[in-house]
Amino acid sequence: MTNSAIIIIGASSAIAKAFISEQHKRYPQHPIITISRSALEDLSEYDDACQSESFKAFHEHIVCDNSPVEITKTVKTIAAQITNAQSVTIFNGQLHNAHFKPEKRLEDIHSDYLQWLFQVNTITPLLWLKYIGEHLGHSSKCVLTCLSARVASIDDNSVGGWYGYRASKAALNMAVKTFAIELARRAKHCKCVLFHPGTTDTPLSKPFQKNVPNGKLFDPQFVAGQLSDLLAQRVINGQVDYIDWQGKAINW
Ligand SMILES: NC(=O)c1ccc[n+]([C@@H]2O[C@H](COP(=O)([O-])OP(=O)(O)OC[C@H]3O[C@@H](n4cnc5c(N)ncnc54)[C@H](OP(=O)(O)O)[C@@H]3O)[C@@H](O)[C@H]2O)c1
Repeated sequence: MTNSAIIIIGASSAIAKAFISEQHKRYPQHPIITISRSALEDLSEYDDACQSESFKAFHEHIVCDNSPVEITKTVKTIAAQITNAQSVTIFNGQLHNAHFKPEKRLEDIHSDYLQWLFQVNTITPLLWLKYIGEHLGHSSKCVLTCLSARVASIDDNSVGGWYGYRASKAALNMAVKTFAIELARRAKHCKCVLFHPGTTDTPLSKPFQKNVPNGKLFDPQFVAGQLSDLLAQRVINGQVDYIDWQGKAINW
């Protein structure tokens, strides 16, 4: 029988690339399907094993522009190839671009920036969950994870700022919580996770790293190891776990 597949969406993310390599180390005989808007770069920075023939035999990369039509097509292609998936991990998320950086005050709020953030951080992951969710049933045993952030916590917001990123990730949290309620009815052995990686050295955090305390800027490999441990330990209970890199629950 074919081993259950590992599906990784938003695979160009620095954390995702380390996670691909970590998952291959832990589950060398499991198919790994990666999805990104672009071709997947060389993973050797993360692990030489990803250059191996065995990785190539178990790995497939699909380019998808995240439009509903392309997501539907991609999910159908995958469903035709695999019998089940043990995990789906969605890394898509953005914070800044060439035109915009996180708002410090009201005057910085801009509708173009908000629309872009909500598209990448909320709508894209939710569309993936929609089309993947349609293929899950009570025989599925799958952990579905979205990369969230601690700043999405309404409880934790004591310093303000970052309107768009906070709101778009908080909306993601609400969407996943709602998805999990429906999933518990349709696919009772599946589990949803919202994961905060901690501040990790990636292009997303680059402009905001100077105030990070010593030892608190993680490398992607460390986070990928933590995430892999945490996914393997999840208890299927119909609840969403909103957790940080240590596995500690974050208040909503
Ligand atoms: N780094 C941190 O300190 C930190 C902290 C808290 C939370 N996070 C979260 O962790 C996740 C991974 O981030 P990272 O730090 O690894 O950042 P990264 O290397 O900059 O990765 C960016 C991610 O966003 C996706 N993306 C970029 N533009 C997009 C667009 N227009 N539409 C859809 N997807 C788009 C990319 O997917 P493609 O492969 O399709 O390009 C990729 O998955 C994000 O959700 C982020 O919010 C990161």
